[in-house]
Amino acid sequence: MKEEEEEEEEEVKMKDNIGCIDWVKGWMNVISEMLFQRIASKHLHNPIPLPSLHNLTFIVTGSTSGIGLQTARQLAESGAHVIMAVRNTNAAHELIQKWQTESPSQGLPLNIEVMEIDLLSLESVTRFADLYNARSEPLHALINNAGICSVGVPQTFSKDGHEVQMQVNHLATALLSVLLLPSLIRGSPSRIINVNSVVHSLGFVDPEDMSVVKGNRKYTGVVGYSSSKLAQVMFSGILQKRLPAECGISVVCVSPGIVKTNVVRDLPKIFQAAFAWTPYFFLSPEEGSRSSLFAATDPQVPEYCESLKADKRSACAFFSQDCRPSNPAKEAWNTETSRRVWEKTFEMVGLPVDAVDNLVRGKEVKCSFGDQYR
Ligand SMILES: NC(=O)c1ccc[n+]([C@@H]2O[C@H](COP(=O)([O-])OP(=O)(O)OC[C@H]3O[C@@H](n4cnc5c(N)ncnc54)[C@H](OP(=O)(O)O)[C@@H]3O)[C@@H](O)[C@H]2O)c1
Repeated sequence: MKEEEEEEEEEVKMKDNIGCIDWVKGWMNVISEMLFQRIASKHLHNPIPLPSLHNLTFIVTGSTSGIGLQTARQLAESGAHVIMAVRNTNAAHELIQKWQTESPSQGLPLNIEVMEIDLLSLESVTRFADLYNARSEPLHALINNAGICSVGVPQTFSKDGHEVQMQVNHLATALLSVLLLPSLIRGSPSRIINVNSVVHSLGFVDPEDMSVVKGNRKYTGVVGYSSSKLAQVMFSGILQKRLPAECGISVVCVSPGIVKTNVVRDLPKIFQAAFAWTPYFFLSPEEGSRSSLFAATDPQVPEYCESLKADKRSACAFFSQDCRPSNPAKEAWNTETSRRVWEKTFEMVGLPVDAVDNLVRGKEVKCSFGDQYR
């Protein structure tokens, strides 16, 4: 009995040590991204050249500031029909007016519209998906860009009861992706692009404690942010594998780099000072939008995603800020945790765990925060 207990203790210690090494490696990834991102992305033009996107529809969440704003604007200027999915609709309308007057698109009006969504409310997400799916129009790419980074802020919860970063960055985003599958299938070949972060490599997700409330781990803003981004990578990897090739939907995560945007607002003063004093190391929002735009439009991306799918052990397709494929963090390859994160996510967003299979087959799915979907 004593021997068994000692063995268990030894195992826990070993796991802690491995976790510690991964955490140090994660920080090294973040620091090296900051120091070398400019050099690594030297081969890219700014803005990134885009093909003509006429007759293609893109939804961009969180497009009122930062990376999302640049993404929406550049897509629209290349002829795309863009839906700005935002919580501040007035700000989005003002931006459109401004872009219409400044646009170089030969006097043609930009094809942009605004739809309201608040990722802090799962009901708002289902309402958005209801409205969009009811159009019975194709959707060619969903760019899940909206996100929050509440580092240096006390732990807070959405009205749905989830830690806010986990809700905005992963849960609500996953719900939106699943509920919009019928429209994405109509738009096939289509794509789901998740704006992730190199910070996912600091993450650790306990599927039984996604909001970090049980006290097994101390909550900090970094824990909340990195776990939400890691959960998104894990979920995306499984989503890509669950979608049959005939659906023609590619699922990709991207890292935009370390970018000077409003995300800095909530960071502790030391990080804000770093952004202010060492501007060389930080990308502009336009530079930060390149990986999303690349993943959403480059013709070789779907083939790359399909090639990864063939390997059962592979994690999700991931592109760095330099628009090159890269491997997500080691923990993202943990198939058992990923499966549990997948299942828990469905439970937390009020969907049956077979929702994807049913939507793909054209069957009806019921969401407890909304209505019937097919
Ligand atoms: N900046 C970086 O260094 C960096 C690095 C890695 C990853 N990222 C990721 O890049 C993405 C874009 O961030 P950013 O840097 O461009 O920051 P940002 O300027 O703060 O933009 C975030 C956008 O998300 C929207 N948003 C926030 N909460 C929302 C909610 N509850 N419902 C709907 N929309 C919401 C914001 O809307 P409001 O204007 O209404 O607040 C804003 O439009 C995020 O996913 C972020 O995690 C950023």
